[in-house]
Amino acid sequence: MDLPPTLEWRDGRLVLVDQTRLPELHLVAIGTVDELVDAIRRLVVRGAPALGVAGAYGVVLAAREGRDPEVVAAARPTAVNLRRGVERALAAADPLAAAHAFRAEDIEGCQAIGARGAALLTELCGDRPLRLHTHCNAGALACVEWGTALGVVRSLHTQGRVELVVADETRPLLQGARITAVELAAIGVEHRVIVDGAAASVIARGLVDAVVVGADRIAANGDVANKIGTYPLALAAARAGIPFVVAAPETTVDADTASGAEIEIEERDPAEVVAGAPAWNPAFDVTPADLVTAIVTDTRTWRP
Ligand code: MRU
Repeated sequence: MDLPPTLEWRDGRLVLVDQTRLPELHLVAIGTVDELVDAIRRLVVRGAPALGVAGAYGVVLAAREGRDPEVVAAARPTAVNLRRGVERALAAADPLAAAHAFRAEDIEGCQAIGARGAALLTELCGDRPLRLHTHCNAGALACVEWGTALGVVRSLHTQGRVELVVADETRPLLQGARITAVELAAIGVEHRVIVDGAAASVIARGLVDAVVVGADRIAANGDVANKIGTYPLALAAARAGIPFVVAAPETTVDADTASGAEIEIEERDPAEVVAGAPAWNPAFDVTPADLVTAIVTDTRTWRP
């Protein structure tokens, strides 16, 4: 399947790939603040960098309606990029031009992250084809295009250096099985989807060479918030002695948040987990900095 850009401004509306419907491809055109807030909350658009760009365009919609864009910035709490995108467009004389610029920077930034991450993995693992483990979706659909963790995979793949990607299915909304698998198939990368409960065992059995994930917010001390189920991968990687690499743009680094303890973890509807039983649905977890081998951004490789 050829994937269109995750989000694009067309004729006064924000056209999104509806990520709730993947692997079927449907586009949705957002023309109002209320539609955008609903799309963000339902994960029609999702992934920290894509949320940032959506937030910037949200300021354009809000200005048109005479609304306070804070409702967009507050639609989801964990990915700092969303608020950053809103703030960036709000501070500009021309919010639409600022949103376009923010979108273009995301594309460039992902290319830089991919190249830097590929170089780092070569340094850490050698120049043989690699077996990489990822979680959730940190690909083109979580950004504008290319991706962060999957941007690293793409960069290695263009060098013929990806043997296999293991993708956790990522309960409860299956971003790994529905979105990452679609992206990897689209670019012809050999991959296997596993249930989240199999991840630690796959790492312990030596079936992957490194873990590469994205991030929703990185605290000043290097603690990393990402999709629930990331922290167990970091524990398993440390135990197995393989690298745990985080790939994210600088817009995900939050200098105002001292440590992961200060990061608000989104609690989602328990009905996403199970029907008919009491449930608890934290959408993110925090991996402490000491379990992170390196954080690769668009401008630096940081070993917290
Ligand atoms: O709830 P989601 O699907 O928005 O969560 C997305 C993630 O956790 C991603 O790993 C993260 O945003 C990085 S995307 C490049």
